Amino acid sequence: MNTQILQFNINNIDICAREIAQGGVVAFPTETVYGLGADALNKFAVKKIYEAKGRPSDNPLICHVSNRTQIEKFAYITPMAEKIIDKFMPGPITVVLKKKGVPDVVTGGLDTVGIRMPDHKCALALIEACGVPLCAPSANTSTKPSPTTALHVYNDLNGKIAYILDGGECGVGVESTIIDCVNGALLRPGGIPKEKIEELVGKLNDPPKSDVPLCPGMKYKHYSPAASVILAQYGKNMQDRIKKAYDSLCGKKAILSRLGGYENRNVLFVGNTVEEYAHNIFALFRKLDEQNYDYIICEGVPEFGVGAALINRLVKASGGNII
Ligand code: TXA
Ligand code: MG
Repeated sequence: MNTQILQFNINNIDICAREIAQGGVVAFPTETVYGLGADALNKFAVKKIYEAKGRPSDNPLICHVSNRTQIEKFAYITPMAEKIIDKFMPGPITVVLKKKGVPDVVTGGLDTVGIRMPDHKCALALIEACGVPLCAPSANTSTKPSPTTALHVYNDLNGKIAYILDGGECGVGVESTIIDCVNGALLRPGGIPKEKIEELVGKLNDPPKSDVPLCPGMKYKHYSPAASVILAQYGKNMQDRIKKAYDSLCGKKAILSRLGGYENRNVLFVGNTVEEYAHNIFALFRKLDEQNYDYIICEGVPEFGVGAALINRLVKASGGNII
C-alpha cells in the first residue's frame, strides 16, 4: 500500500470518509496530536488500527465525536461529564463514561468508553462526513513519541495506511486530559490543566485502586525516543545538575532548554513558555532520533497547568531517570 498525504480540503475529506466507510484506517490531525482513526462501530476496521500501530489490543481507544448528540448515543452522561462537556468541548479533554453499544474491541473489554470532541476543523469535518464516532489512538508506532505533523505519521506508518490528512502542526502538542467521570478521577494529565477542571467540578480523586488497569495505556512504555532521556527536576540548582550530568556522559548529547545558561554545551531551545515546550517536545525527540543522539537531557518545569502533562510525558520517556 502506498500511503498518500492529502491536504485538508472538502474533496480530500470526502476521499478519507469513503476509505473509513469501507472499513479502512485514516490518520487525521487534532489540536493535541495526530490520530489514527477508524469507524468505531466496525470491529474489523478497529482491529486494523491495532495492527498498524503494533499496539496491544487490551489498550482501549478514545472515540472522537463531532457533536453532543453522538456522546449521548454512545455513553451515559454523568453530572460531572455534563459540566465538562459544556465548558471544555470541543477541546483537549476526554471523558470516560459507561458505554452504550460500543464494541468491546474499541474499549479493550471495559464497560466504559473514552469520548472526546477535538477542537480542530479538519478532525470535526472528517467525523461529520463519516457520521459515526472515529476511534483513534495517537498515530505513531506504539511506544514512539506521538506525531504532531503529517510527516511524523508518514515516517511511522508509511505503507500501512492509505491516507494521512494533513492539517499542519498540532497546536497543543501533548495528548488530551483524561477524566474518569464515573469515579471523578484524573487518569492522564493533558491539554486542559487539572486546576481548571477542579475549578469547575471540585477536587478530583486519585485514580481508584483496581486490579483492572483504569487507564490501561499508561502501563506501557510511552513517548520514548531511541535516545536515553534524562529529566532534571525543576528547582534549586537545576542548571548545575544538568551541566554535571552532561559533562559526565560520553556520546552524542543535547540539552533541551527553555532557560539557557549552559555555556558552550549543545543546547536546543524548546521555546520561552511551558506551552511552547509542550508543543515542541515530541517533534524534538523525533528530530534528535533522526540524528542518532545517544542522550537527551530535559529541563524540568513547574508541575502545574500544561506543565503537569509535559512532566508526565518526560517522566515516562526517561523511564524514571531523573536528576
Ligand atoms: O489527545 C488525545 O487523546 C489523542 C488524540 C489522537 O485524540 N489520543 C490519544 O490516544 O492519546 P491514545 O490511544 O494514545 O491514548 C488514550 C489513552 C490510553 O492510555 C487508554 O488506555 C486510555 O486513553 N483510555 C481509553 N479508553 C479508556 C477507558 N474506557 N478507560 C480508561 N482509559 C481509557
Ligand atoms: Mg498514544
